[in-house]
Amino acid sequence: MKIYVPMDSAAKALGADEVAAKIRAEATRRGLTIELVRNGTRGMIWLEPLVEVDGGSGRQAFGPVTVADVPALLDGTLEGLGRVEDIPFFARQTRLTFARCGVIDPVSLSDYEAHGGLCGLRRALSMSAEEIVSEVTESGLRGRGGAGFPTGIKWNTVLGAKADQKYIVCNADEGDSGTFADRMIMEGDPFTLIEGMLIAGIGVGATKGYVYLRSEYPDAIKVMNTAVDIARAAGVLGQDVLDSGRAFDMEIRVGAGAYVCGEETSLLNSLEGKRGVVRAKPPLPALEGFLGKPTVVNNVISLATVPVIFERGAKHYADFGLGRSRGTMPVQIAGNVKFGGLFETAFGMPLGELVNDVAGGTASGRPVKAVQVGGPLGAYMPQSKFDTPFGYEEFDKRGGLIGHAGIVVFDDSTDMLKMARFAMEFCAVESCGKCTPCRIGAVRGVETIDRIRRGDADAIPILTDLCETMKDGSLCALGGFTPFPVMSALTHFPDDFATQKEAAE
Ligand code: NAI
Ligand code: SF4
Repeated sequence: MKIYVPMDSAAKALGADEVAAKIRAEATRRGLTIELVRNGTRGMIWLEPLVEVDGGSGRQAFGPVTVADVPALLDGTLEGLGRVEDIPFFARQTRLTFARCGVIDPVSLSDYEAHGGLCGLRRALSMSAEEIVSEVTESGLRGRGGAGFPTGIKWNTVLGAKADQKYIVCNADEGDSGTFADRMIMEGDPFTLIEGMLIAGIGVGATKGYVYLRSEYPDAIKVMNTAVDIARAAGVLGQDVLDSGRAFDMEIRVGAGAYVCGEETSLLNSLEGKRGVVRAKPPLPALEGFLGKPTVVNNVISLATVPVIFERGAKHYADFGLGRSRGTMPVQIAGNVKFGGLFETAFGMPLGELVNDVAGGTASGRPVKAVQVGGPLGAYMPQSKFDTPFGYEEFDKRGGLIGHAGIVVFDDSTDMLKMARFAMEFCAVESCGKCTPCRIGAVRGVETIDRIRRGDADAIPILTDLCETMKDGSLCALGGFTPFPVMSALTHFPDDFATQKEAAE
C-alpha cells in the first residue's frame, strides 16, 4: 500500500507531519508494509492534510485527516473524498505548470521523469538558441511575477547581448500578500523550476543561475537545495548537461526579508551582497544585470512553465487563454473564502466566478464587499467589477491589475478606510527610501487618511493629489502602485470615507 502525505508547508502547518508520524507508527504496530510518500500539495488547502491511499486500484483521497483518524484510515473505514481528480475544485482546473505538483515525490528525479520531466529540456537541447527563444515567444508566455512582460522578448534581449558571461536569476521572493504559487511549486515540483532555468540558460547563452529565495520559506529552501544536489549528481546540472556538451549550474541564495527585494533591480543588488535599494532603469537587467552582465530575471512561475511549453509545444500552450493573455495562470485564492487554495486555469474566467463559484463565497457567510487582486499593491475590486475576465489587459481596462494572481476576499464587515491606511503604512515600512514620492509620500499618506478618519473633509483632495504624485513620480512599483488600493477603496467605498458622518458622530 502506498500512502501520500504532503510535506508542503501549508499542509505541515495543518498537522501533516503528525499525521505522517502516526501512520508510520500505526502501520508498524499492525505489521503492515506501507510505502509512505511525502508529496507536495494538490493545492486544496481547506482539505489539508489531504492524504491519498493507493491500495493497488488508484489513489483515493481523504481530508482533512487528523491523527485520530489514522486507525480508521488504515482499517479502510474512514469516509473518503474519492479521486482528487473528481473533486469539483480540482476537476475544473487546467493543470499545465502544476500538473505534477502533489502527484509526485518532489525530491525523486525518477518520479519526475516518469511524469514527463526532462522531456522539454531534451527537446530544447536539440534546438538552436534562436529556436528556443522563438518557441517561448510563440507560446505567448508573459512574466508571471506581475508585470506580464513577454518572456520571449526578454530572453531575446539577453540572447542578443554580447558578453563573456550571462546569468539566469529566478525571483523567488514571493512577497505579495495572499500569494503562494512560487512556494507551492518549489516545495512540490522543484525539478520543473530547475529544468526551466536550464532551458533559459541554454536559450540565451547563460551558464550560471541563481534562485533568490525568501528566508520566510525554509521548507522551499531545503527542497530546492536537495533538488539541485540531486540534479547535479545525476548530470542534469553541471559542465555537461545530459551529455550534451552544454554547461549550466545553479545555486540557491536566501533573501533577508525586505519586500522591495522582490523588485528585480533591488533583488540584484541584494544578490550581489549590497543593500536592497532599487536601481534606476535603464540600463535594463537584460543588458546590465547581475554583476553588470546580461541577466534574465524571471519569476518562479514563468520559469517553471517553460518545461511544459517545450514538452507539448508552443502552440499547445498558446491555445489556452484570452486576448493577449495566453496559457494558464495559477490563481491563488485566500482571505475570507470557503475554499482557499491554488486554482490553475486558462486566462478568461470572470472574477466573480472565481470568487463566488470556485472559492464558494465567504467563509463567514456574509456578502463579499471587495476582492484585492494582485497583492498589497493591487486594486480593490467591488462586486460591480466581478464580470471582469481574468487577463492582463482586461483588468487594466477596469482599473485593476492581476499581478502575481493572488486574490484576497473581504466581506461586508471590512472597513475600507482601514485597508487604504494599511496600504500606505505598508509602503512606508517597506520603502527602500530612494525616491521622495514613496519615502515621504507614504508617511504623509497615513497621516492624511488619519485626518479623514477624524472627519476632515479637506484631506480627501489632498489624498487624491498625493496618490497622483506617488503614481507618476515613484521610481518603482512599490511607490507607484500603492495608490491602486488606496484610490480604489476611496472611489468604490466612499461611505467608509464619509467625513461628515464621522464628524457628526
Ligand atoms: P516593469 O514593467 O518595469 O518590467 C517588467 C519586466 O520586463 C522587467 O523584468 C524588465 O526588466 C523587463 N523589460 C522591460 N523592457 C524590456 C526589454 N525591452 N527587454 C528586456 N526586458 C525588458 O515591471 P516591474 O517593476 O519589474 O514589476 C512590476 C510588477 O511587479 C507589478 O505589476 C506588480 O504586480 C509586481 N509585483 C510582484 C510581486 C510578487 O510578490 N510577485 C511583489 C510586488 C510587485
Ligand atoms: Fe524605493 Fe519606494 Fe522609490 Fe521604489 S518607489 S525606489 S521602493 S523609494
